Amino acid sequence: MAHNLAHRLLLTMSLLQIFLILHQVSAVGDPVSSDQVGNTEEEFKAWLDHIRKGVESLPAFKQFFHRNKNASTVVVDLKGSGNFTSIQKAIDSIPFGSKNPVYIIVNPGIYREKVVIPRTKDFITLQGHGRTNTMVVWNDTAASATSTYLSASISVDAQYFVAMNISFQNSAPQPTPGAEGQQAVALRISGDNAVFYGCGFIGHQDTLYDQKGEHYFRDCYIEGSIDFVFGNGRSMYQGCELHVVATGGSLTAQKRARDTSDSGFVFLNCTISGRDVVYLGRAWGRYSRVVFLYTYMENIIKPEGWHNWGDPTRDATVYYGQYKCFGPGAGPNGRTPWSHELSDEEAKPFLSLNFIQGNTWVPLVMPTLNF
Ligand SMILES: *[C@@H]1O[C@H](CO)[C@@H](O)[C@H](O)[C@H]1NC(C)=O
Ligand SMILES: *[C@@H]1O[C@H](CO)[C@@H](O)[C@H](O)[C@H]1NC(C)=O
Ligand SMILES: *[C@@H]1O[C@H](CO)[C@@H](O)[C@H](O)[C@H]1NC(C)=O
Ligand SMILES: *[C@@H]1O[C@H](CO)[C@@H](O)[C@H](O)[C@H]1NC(C)=O
Ligand SMILES: *[C@@H]1O[C@H](CO)[C@@H](O)[C@H](O)[C@H]1NC(C)=O
Repeated sequence: MAHNLAHRLLLTMSLLQIFLILHQVSAVGDPVSSDQVGNTEEEFKAWLDHIRKGVESLPAFKQFFHRNKNASTVVVDLKGSGNFTSIQKAIDSIPFGSKNPVYIIVNPGIYREKVVIPRTKDFITLQGHGRTNTMVVWNDTAASATSTYLSASISVDAQYFVAMNISFQNSAPQPTPGAEGQQAVALRISGDNAVFYGCGFIGHQDTLYDQKGEHYFRDCYIEGSIDFVFGNGRSMYQGCELHVVATGGSLTAQKRARDTSDSGFVFLNCTISGRDVVYLGRAWGRYSRVVFLYTYMENIIKPEGWHNWGDPTRDATVYYGQYKCFGPGAGPNGRTPWSHELSDEEAKPFLSLNFIQGNTWVPLVMPTLNF
């Protein structure tokens, strides 16, 4: 316990140092700004390089990265031509409490297994070969698993987790209207500082349980019907597609519970598509916070946009906004008066990775493997 605390303290200190250094670096006025991660993959890579170059010679960065010398790579292959035939077996092979990065390369295939990454296994990267050909699939529901929390096809409680080019699916059938216990989570994440790059999340009710922590979802595909991005996470979703497959639900159910909480969902340069009419969000938490910026919305958004979870006192406490969204569903006509179009000043905190303090950790956890 004490050891763990000391470790966290050290890590926090080095992150703080890096944070301060990055501020100096950005003040120098480089062509790439430290917080503008860019819209295209090339720009993103340039940004990662820029941040790494800026700090790699500094002791704080070295301290953080010295453990990379211990990184190892294993291959998971269904047909037996790798080190393991299941992802869970690869996870199980990592010692508890290990701080050595492990890259798990997952060969194409449909992995029918329930995967758990426990809190004591930090620095794991799962890398598939593409989100349409590499998938983790299970089919528990809240009823079959005894809770929504336990229904997840994959649960990640570890810190510094990265997933790239892989999909996570809950294949439980679409619930009939009014059916109970049919929440079926594809992925649940409670570990801090996770990156999902080019991943898929597929399910119906409660697809993506963004439970808590700071997370960056980049160029992902998220499919569901009701509350399909939900939880108390502090997350940035950039360049993602949200695809609606059933009627009458809500894209998000963000759970921020106090006005002092820093949780919230930011959707930047995303696309909302599908075939049915939904709310952008509903107020699972009294201080629920969700903003959509530069997002294209198909004609599938209810004009009022947002729902107060049946509690009108939440109208005054939620923070729901849009900024420069476009497309036939983007409004603003008919939007509920307690949501708003953000001013330039209000939008600013949500337009960069600073919202999740991303420039202090995203370049550090993104694998140096090619992508
Ligand atoms: C979002 O898209 C807009 C318009 O295409 C672009 O100008 C802007 O740079 C993008 N922002 C980010 C952070 O990618
Ligand atoms: C590498 O791993 C070993 C065994 O877990 C550990 O004792 C050592 O401190 C690690 N080295 C670095 C640089 O993290
Ligand atoms: C994984 O398989 C490769 C190739 O057979 C082998 O060289 C390597 O030692 C294996 N790694 C582990 C951790 O078993
Ligand atoms: C990720 O998937 C895309 C196709 O979806 C592919 O072009 C790319 O090479 C993949 N990257 C890696 C590192 O596998
Ligand atoms: C999951 O799928 C299996 C195999 O198709 C089936 O036997 C089981 O009942 C399903 N579980 C749930 C909760 O639907």
